[in-house]
Amino acid sequence: MSSKNSTKINFFSGEQVPVELHKVRIVQKLNLKPIDDRLKAIEKGGYNTFLLNTEDVFLDMLTDSGTNAMSDNQLASMHQADDAYAGSQSFYRMEKALQDVFGKELILPVHQGRAAENIISQTFIRPGHVIPMNYHFTTTKAHMEINGGKIYEIYTDEALKIKSSHPFKGNIDIDKLKKLITKYGVENVPFIRLEASTNLIGGQPFSIENMREVRKVADEHGIMMVLDASLIGENAWFIKQREKEFANSSIRDILRTMCDLCEIIYFSSRKVSSTRGGGICTNDKKLFMKMRDLVPLYEGFLTYGGMSVREIEAMAVGLMETTDDTVISQSPGFIEYAVNELDKLGIPVITPAGALGAHVDAMQFLDHVPQKEYPAGALAAALFIVSGCRGMERGTISSVRLDNGEDLLADMELLRLAFPRRVFTLSQTKFLIDRLNWLYQNRELIGGLEFVEEPKVLRFFMGRLAATSDWPQKLVAKFKKDFGDSL
Ligand code: F0G
Repeated sequence: MSSKNSTKINFFSGEQVPVELHKVRIVQKLNLKPIDDRLKAIEKGGYNTFLLNTEDVFLDMLTDSGTNAMSDNQLASMHQADDAYAGSQSFYRMEKALQDVFGKELILPVHQGRAAENIISQTFIRPGHVIPMNYHFTTTKAHMEINGGKIYEIYTDEALKIKSSHPFKGNIDIDKLKKLITKYGVENVPFIRLEASTNLIGGQPFSIENMREVRKVADEHGIMMVLDASLIGENAWFIKQREKEFANSSIRDILRTMCDLCEIIYFSSRKVSSTRGGGICTNDKKLFMKMRDLVPLYEGFLTYGGMSVREIEAMAVGLMETTDDTVISQSPGFIEYAVNELDKLGIPVITPAGALGAHVDAMQFLDHVPQKEYPAGALAAALFIVSGCRGMERGTISSVRLDNGEDLLADMELLRLAFPRRVFTLSQTKFLIDRLNWLYQNRELIGGLEFVEEPKVLRFFMGRLAATSDWPQKLVAKFKKDFGDSL
């Protein structure tokens, strides 16, 4: 059964509540520690949520990467893993699943998404190249630039608006694309990159209509299209919900339509199939041969690519499950619930709800904190202190420092609260919303952050920061006043 609203359950009361179409069979105990412990933990972690120990975290909303719940069938499949260096049957089962779902015959396994970016960038990008895309992802940009490329984000005017009702904020602006190709010359454009459920602008999808227009331009110039399919399942789900032509199509058919429009597909299976790994897929033997030799060099032999065979088995099953409406709709359903509730409370949040997580606009939330004091990072730290919920900064800390010593200020300052598939319950979601609401009412207490240790590359992962004043202590004092000894 895959009618348009097969996963939407109506309540007699009229309430709009996402209902879990699965049951919990294995659980992990969580710790909700006292606020003093949480303050110590974030100080120890250099005010960077990446540097927290999950022992101190209540709801881990850092990412959906490698943290989606796995199914009984995925776990069962791991028992039939074939431990072979070369020619493992596990690989052939995964290859078959990828061929079925993405419609590409030639598969290169890699250990995770950025490894695919490394191989694609090394193979196709040369100094002076420009790569048009709807929006960058952090690791994508880093790999492309290391190889001498420059990225150009040619999103539409709607893409960066926080409040919007546009269904496809991940679309490419076709005019900008044409102009870019004319300006730099077709010989300097190795490919056009499309990222499904565009991560850094709030998990926003693109439409197939837009993909087809991009394809037309690509064909006119003989440029190939590369699809980052890490969040393709959710993008397909939004297409089914929001693009009329596909209202009655299956997720499987939508996925195939998307994949058929691109020469190369790569993905992080940490997201797309709820496992840990990645891959590159194509039907073009020439492209495949150009990339192939880098796999044994950087990843591992061609039938495991740095992945465990157990994960490879689970990936085959997980990929099939991604085509199931009840699986793929779950995370967007919870995100939509959270976004709508936050919006009702007047908390600035990206609309419409996208994939991956709810995205709070820290620039508005903390409009008294200058962007060079990292409002999104400060909000992530503050939320952790008052709730134990760990989100991720997606703003200027996730950007770079320029040669002149200044920060490249990010287009958006977002606190991303990830909803990995089938992990959190409704009461946990309500707890998050409640604590965010309290924080919003007390936002004046939150101050900025500054770097005390700053790595040169991908600084957001390991960088350490400090509060610019004693605002964390003041926040804790107010929390204790309002909540007493309560957690
Ligand atoms: N592309 C996209 C769109 C991603 O979201 C990610 C990872 C990657 C590539 C890299 O894949 O982590 O397997 O190497 N996103 C994670 C996140 C890290 O938290 O959003 P990877």
